[in-house]
Amino acid sequence: MGTVLEGGELIIARILIAGCGDVGTTLGLNLTRAGHTVWGLRRRASLIPVPLQAVSADLADTESLRIVPSALDYVVYAAAADGFSASQYRTAYVEGLRNLLHALREGKQQPQRILAISSTSVYAQHQGEWVDEMSPAEPESFAGKILREGEDLLWNSGFPATVVRFAGIYGPGRTRLLDSLRQGNARCVPGLYTNRVHREDGAAALQFLVTQRAVEPLYIAVDDSPSLQCEVLNWLAGHLGLPEPRSVSEVGEAEAALRANKRCSNARLRAAGFRFRYPSYQEGYGDLLKNYALGAKASDESS
Ligand SMILES: NC(=O)c1ccc[n+]([C@@H]2O[C@H](COP(=O)([O-])OP(=O)(O)OC[C@H]3O[C@@H](n4cnc5c(N)ncnc54)[C@H](OP(=O)(O)O)[C@@H]3O)[C@@H](O)[C@H]2O)c1
Repeated sequence: MGTVLEGGELIIARILIAGCGDVGTTLGLNLTRAGHTVWGLRRRASLIPVPLQAVSADLADTESLRIVPSALDYVVYAAAADGFSASQYRTAYVEGLRNLLHALREGKQQPQRILAISSTSVYAQHQGEWVDEMSPAEPESFAGKILREGEDLLWNSGFPATVVRFAGIYGPGRTRLLDSLRQGNARCVPGLYTNRVHREDGAAALQFLVTQRAVEPLYIAVDDSPSLQCEVLNWLAGHLGLPEPRSVSEVGEAEAALRANKRCSNARLRAAGFRFRYPSYQEGYGDLLKNYALGAKASDESS
């Protein structure tokens, strides 16, 4: 176990980030700066930066998980699927988690909490309505259904557990939206709301939850400002000096996109005391575009 102060406050925790990629590494580096001992687990462990401690393991392979560090105080499950298929989703969000929970039980570990990243795609609401942690999450897509299965697996594991549903992640190194504008093939669906969270805020929210005493089983990690897709793209196009994106006119395509039309609320996270560095796309993309203007690679991902 980590170092515990009189009164029970944990000052130096032993933390494993399983599936330590973009968000996991950002979180891990922040946690090491705060003095914690952090292991990052992934298959390509050579990509884990110092001072994180690299654990080379495959979540799909129970044998390889025998090397999971002992006496962990916190575990953050942040693995992402290798691709957009049911089997890849099942491996990342259900089987990998099941295998890790098994390894923790085998090691008689008693972490104070396991946190897992899920997605706001579990909400099937589609009329632009607000959703929060109390809203029904009854996905229709295979992806949403498998993510929900993973959430239930964690909640029913017997470990203290928290699921954090992320909206679309954007930030350095994520270039899809800007690329589509630059290439002239960006399109937007009138009336469609999109939800996003900057990578730094997503990682900071996880760190915030690790340090809280009273933690709920579920949070939504999304910025303050769900915004219309066309508004976001038009704003970006204006700042890049590029033509505005074409509105999708094909009925079928627009209908398909509008099946995931909702506004996600971060009220629970904010009520707990968390503050966003990038409360809206203007601040987040404003920062990215500043770097872009300076010649660095600007980047993003739509939600
Ligand atoms: N992209 C979005 O907009 C979005 C929205 C909502 C939620 N999320 C969720 O946010 C989380 C973090 O996303 P991210 O952007 O940080 O993803 P990422 O950069 O792709 O990182 C995911 C990590 O998982 C590792 N991984 C995958 N399969 C593994 C396995 N079998 N064994 C061990 N490690 C494995 C990968 O490393 P190796 O390949 O080296 O193993 C990678 O480092 C994911 O759960 C994702 O589903 C994303």
